[in-house]
Amino acid sequence: MNAAELEKKLLGIISDIAEGRYSDDIMELTRDDVPDTVRTIAEAVALMMVKVEAREFQLQQLVDELKELNEKIRKNTIAAVTAMAHALAARDTYTEGHTSRVAELSHAIARELGLEGEDLEYIRLGGALHDIGKIGFPDALFADHEGKLPSNLVKEINRHPSIGVKILKPLDFLGPAIDYVSAHHERLDGRGYPRGLKGDQIPLGAQIVSVADIYDAITSERPYQEKRTPDTALAILYGIAGTRIRLEIVEALERVLANNDTP
Ligand SMILES: [Fe+2]
Repeated sequence: MNAAELEKKLLGIISDIAEGRYSDDIMELTRDDVPDTVRTIAEAVALMMVKVEAREFQLQQLVDELKELNEKIRKNTIAAVTAMAHALAARDTYTEGHTSRVAELSHAIARELGLEGEDLEYIRLGGALHDIGKIGFPDALFADHEGKLPSNLVKEINRHPSIGVKILKPLDFLGPAIDYVSAHHERLDGRGYPRGLKGDQIPLGAQIVSVADIYDAITSERPYQEKRTPDTALAILYGIAGTRIRLEIVEALERVLANNDTP
């Protein structure tokens, strides 16, 4: 190759490198028999390429580490808030197990409805955290009132979805799970609380948690209530489908129960 050809080759290699296509072709131009000018530039470019490659490798490693760290933080925080939910359940002895059953049942219903991936996880979280807002409540609210609460306590209890949102709001990776906590006592007909949302204004995840919550309350033993059978619970749920909850969710719950699809 004559000097002009070598220069042309050098320029070609440099523009390849500039576009991110690294190759060892540059090394050919650093041999002793290559004219000084081309060789000096080729050596400088080769050195630069090696440095850039090393920097890119380091950056990629850093990005991977950050991703890993972020995932760790996410998991730890979810574990921490779930522990909070369990601490709450421990105070409220007769709802022991309620939190995790609602979480698992919500997850199973959502899967039956065809939801997948992240959506399922958010719904499980919404189920686990739905009553987290009760955590600051005085003991009187947990005491046995034989199913009938004085109206001042009812008012207090009705604040728990909003308090839950306040507690969870800073944890932005809980994403839509926070909306499910917020809206798990809303009703299709707009007569729920805290916001009186109607129909499609209520997120599907919140309605799923709501159905799981009601189902579990009916089928659990409470001091003021004998536990009732799954069939009775389903009949009650079908009775309020269309006014409080969405029919297709109750149908999905029925299929889940028929498949015994819950842990
Ligand atoms: Fe609740």
